[in-house]
Amino acid sequence: MIKLFFISLILPSLFVCQAFSAEPVDSASRIITISTAHSSLSLYRATDNRIYELGYGRKDQEVAIPVKTPGREDEFLPPSGNGFIWEPAIQAFHADGNTSTDLVYKTHSVINIGNDIRLTRIELKDSYFPFFVTVCFKCYLNEDIIEQWTEISHNENGTVTLYRFASSSPVMHAGSYWVSQFYGNWAKEFNFVEEKLTPGIKVFDSKLGVRAQQMRNPSFILSLEGPADENSGEVYGGTLGWSGSFQLSFEVDNANRLRTLCGINPFGSQYRLKASKVFKTPSMFWTYSREGKGQVSRNFHRWALKYGICDGQKPRPVLLNNWEATGMKFDEPTIVSLFDGAKEVGADLFLLDDGWFANKYPRDNAKAGLGDWDVNKAKLPQGLPYLAKEAKKRGVNFGIWIEPEMVNPKSELYEKHPEWAIVEPNREPLLSRNQLVLDLTRPQVSDYVWNAINQTFASSPDISYTKWDCNRYVTQPGSTYLSADEQSHLLIDYNFALYNIMDKMQKNYPNVMAMVCSGGGGRVDYGALKYFHSFWPSDNTDPVRRVYMQWGYSHFFPANTIAAHVTNMGKRPLRFAINVAMSGALGIDLDIRKMTPEDRKILAQGVKLYKDQLREIVQQGDLYRLESPYDRPRAALNYVLYNQQKAVLFVYQLKSGTPEVVKPRGLDPKKKYKVQELNVPEGESSKLSFNGKILNGETLMRDGLIPVTQKEYDSMVVEFEEATSEK
Ligand code: DGJ
Repeated sequence: MIKLFFISLILPSLFVCQAFSAEPVDSASRIITISTAHSSLSLYRATDNRIYELGYGRKDQEVAIPVKTPGREDEFLPPSGNGFIWEPAIQAFHADGNTSTDLVYKTHSVINIGNDIRLTRIELKDSYFPFFVTVCFKCYLNEDIIEQWTEISHNENGTVTLYRFASSSPVMHAGSYWVSQFYGNWAKEFNFVEEKLTPGIKVFDSKLGVRAQQMRNPSFILSLEGPADENSGEVYGGTLGWSGSFQLSFEVDNANRLRTLCGINPFGSQYRLKASKVFKTPSMFWTYSREGKGQVSRNFHRWALKYGICDGQKPRPVLLNNWEATGMKFDEPTIVSLFDGAKEVGADLFLLDDGWFANKYPRDNAKAGLGDWDVNKAKLPQGLPYLAKEAKKRGVNFGIWIEPEMVNPKSELYEKHPEWAIVEPNREPLLSRNQLVLDLTRPQVSDYVWNAINQTFASSPDISYTKWDCNRYVTQPGSTYLSADEQSHLLIDYNFALYNIMDKMQKNYPNVMAMVCSGGGGRVDYGALKYFHSFWPSDNTDPVRRVYMQWGYSHFFPANTIAAHVTNMGKRPLRFAINVAMSGALGIDLDIRKMTPEDRKILAQGVKLYKDQLREIVQQGDLYRLESPYDRPRAALNYVLYNQQKAVLFVYQLKSGTPEVVKPRGLDPKKKYKVQELNVPEGESSKLSFNGKILNGETLMRDGLIPVTQKEYDSMVVEFEEATSEK
């Protein structure tokens, strides 16, 4: 919690369903509190009518009312050009050319939305210009999440150019600050590194335009006074809901104050805002915990399951994907024969990946066909409805891959509309994976993309799943549609147009589940996930790498969003691969026909176990990260169902090591649990000394158990089930 000075008092309880105005008020009523069940953000309207931040932290904090106007460094949403000398949250050049902004309080309102959500809107206005900024907070009370965004508008006589438009800009005061980022690249997504912030500015960003993540994710963990611990200490988690270029900047100033700016990357994206139009920034999601980053993750997960993703409570199907098995080389009989494998191993759904479309320039490889969304008649003469019917006959649902935002120059679409692609005029178009990005800011392009999706789904009503891919990013941000002075809008408006199409897909096809993918895990953020059920974390499916990636992703995203497929990659033992996939949303990417009967059986048993016993605990339970693969030769984690009646522990041995106790967390200390090792090879019995025993939660958490894992790629899955008297 921020250290505060001046007179202290305990904050009064919140006002609800009320509006407030700029009338003179006593000091205590100058405080605006934005709070959730266990956290609160305190803002202060000083006598200069500016809004200052008093602190964001624990709910029962003592907040001091300043006896004099705070310094401008503590201004909550600092604008540039009129006294604020650090990185600003808002920078606008006004219609008359004035380059400064001065934001003062106008009014604020608080409304309750149901029992769990409270919306606070603080309206600010420039002290001279008709230029308005509304800071909005949606508090998810029980989940301890604060969603923040800003809405910028004006009534000036002409256009205002926005150069900075942060979604959130908290300021903190502590002795030291530690930030964890999640960085990577294609096939190396979501690695974790933590560092101490030093004076100056540290920036995490993306300039990729159509994907936030590739080099790093728009999420971070911030810890005060030392590195973030899993189970103790004051820790903040932040994640930006935006799938385009983003910027997260952390500035430690000369008074050791930390200003964090989060939002769309302003780089090359100045926005010319016309009078009476509203520029709404994407949402920044914050959570605060006094119990380390484990609780930060659990807050995000609980919120996501309820509000942040599609159908959070619906079980994710076990899907069999054909990408690693066939690539684009397949025909109708091959695909139909794969359905038998899907049925045999108990998969719920078959997902047909890239390669099913385009005729003039068939999609037989990555060089052609993107943009032409008619089914390829040579490969699939009876079309998608036939495939869906054949899958259904075997009790398997059917889904398809799409990449609707893209075009290959070798396509009918590009022949007709080369001007629809994002390229810079008078430059040689730079291809990546032989493709270009379509310019969704052009209404005809957005219509074309939506129609392609709509027609595909409407003509095959049995399609119940889709994987939406995006295999390149923007390297030449030019639009033949936008005017010369609006070229810098391209990457912002693109993403708004993209969300509009995703929203239509979700609203028109609420029963089609969807996975967001972007050349692996390039588009993993809560901006996109609002329209999706899960995401493809990486094209690297080696289970060893996946242990690290799933560890990283789990900081912000719940297990039901993390597609975890069993494949041959890395040539690790099959049981290890299955046990790793079981701690996410288990799926498969294997040619079942090519597996030995023994392996097919092992896989089928794993799928059955997951569906019957584990899926609910993993996909709906609270996660406890126990041992980090970054620190130890093994990783360990457990999930606990909210009613604490069931839990499951996973241990993955990544390097050989001596067996050491692993201690589960989150159990009810008073409940008795039956301990049972699962997925033990057929014909063998568990070597776990506690197997079959009934122990109380307190003993299990205090003394732990010695896992049976020792050698590289050993793994262990243990269930704790409340032992009722009948058992
Ligand atoms: C990239 C994805 O990450 C893969 O899973 C696969 O769908 C290919 N694209 C298909 O082109």
